[in-house]
Amino acid sequence: MRIISVVGTRPQFVKLAAIARGMRGSGIDHVIINTGQHYDSNLSDVFFADLEIPAANFNLGIGSGSHGVQTGAMLAALDKVFTNQNPDCVLVYGDTNSTLAAALSAVKLHFPVAHLEAGLRSFNRAMPEEHNRVLTDHAADLLLPPTEVAHQHLVREGLGNRSVIVGDVMTDVCYLTRDSVKINPLDLGISGDYLTSTIHRAENTDSPDRLKTILKSLQELPMPVALLAHPRLQARAKEFGIELASGSVQVFDPLPYAQTIQMMMSSKGVITDSGGLQKEAYLLEVPCTTIRTETEWVETLEDSWNVLSPDVENLEAIVMRQKPLAVTKPVYGDGNASARVIETLLDFKF
Ligand code: UD1
Repeated sequence: MRIISVVGTRPQFVKLAAIARGMRGSGIDHVIINTGQHYDSNLSDVFFADLEIPAANFNLGIGSGSHGVQTGAMLAALDKVFTNQNPDCVLVYGDTNSTLAAALSAVKLHFPVAHLEAGLRSFNRAMPEEHNRVLTDHAADLLLPPTEVAHQHLVREGLGNRSVIVGDVMTDVCYLTRDSVKINPLDLGISGDYLTSTIHRAENTDSPDRLKTILKSLQELPMPVALLAHPRLQARAKEFGIELASGSVQVFDPLPYAQTIQMMMSSKGVITDSGGLQKEAYLLEVPCTTIRTETEWVETLEDSWNVLSPDVENLEAIVMRQKPLAVTKPVYGDGNASARVIETLLDFKF
């Protein structure tokens, strides 16, 4: 059986790490295509090395562009590779433009599609990720939701009979990493307590007023904020003339996966608009504040482990809240999701 995994962005490399590990010794001929959506080395190459992901068999080198240009270039390139490779299934990950392009190209060439991390919904139709996940779910033949909530979304959209709950593969990688870095705290050169922050979503970075307000609030927090600056944030801040490193904020380049986990483990709280970090904070039992109006990972909101704060003017009270007393629940699986994905792929009659 030949399965092609298509990835292109940082969070997809993390998911691929779990799947590639599970594929070893399964008898599946696993082919990896990297679209090149993320081309900065510390968003891509570093993840392949750090998470011991086998090198991609095909690098499409697509890079940045408007959504249509980026997705269209991927479609054209993928058509060729899929046709030559003749896979039994194309496995797509999450909700990026690489996900949608791969699903669309495969479905039109009549190759079966499986969607990992299916069924997540923000119900915010202005988000590019929401278009990507809804369209991909409806195009795919096999849906692999991480949670019961995600599965229920699919049931409501009439897709329940194609859906198998497998758990969350990011949890597999998070737990493995947590256990390997436990005794080794990260030295960032910040003395005392600090907060970890990442901001990269279009709705937060692409308007100068919004970005200015977010930065001002972070800079005024009463604790050092280690800001891991995604290239999109760095590019927009430069374009709008916004100084990132000021007041409480200290700026760092994006870190490799293990160091990001280490950093979260030793910080007092996380402030982010990333889906992955919200969930990792929950798994590591670090309080999280999410600069968004909604979240796909609704389970993290229970007991205020994660609090949504789209209104960034009053960030301090939320960020500096007491750590919840209640323990987190094992809603994202037991760290063995990738084994269930492989089993499901092997059993499925494509
Ligand atoms: C993409 C995904 C988002 C995911 C995120 C993780 C889509 C629509 N969005 O957002 O769901 O959470 O990845 O990081 O697919 N850039 C660089 N170097 C890079 C990559 C991006 O400089 O290696 C800059 C460029 O200015 C580019 C901008 O970031 O124009 C946007 O990049 P893009 O890949 O389109 O989206 P992300 O914001 O990274």
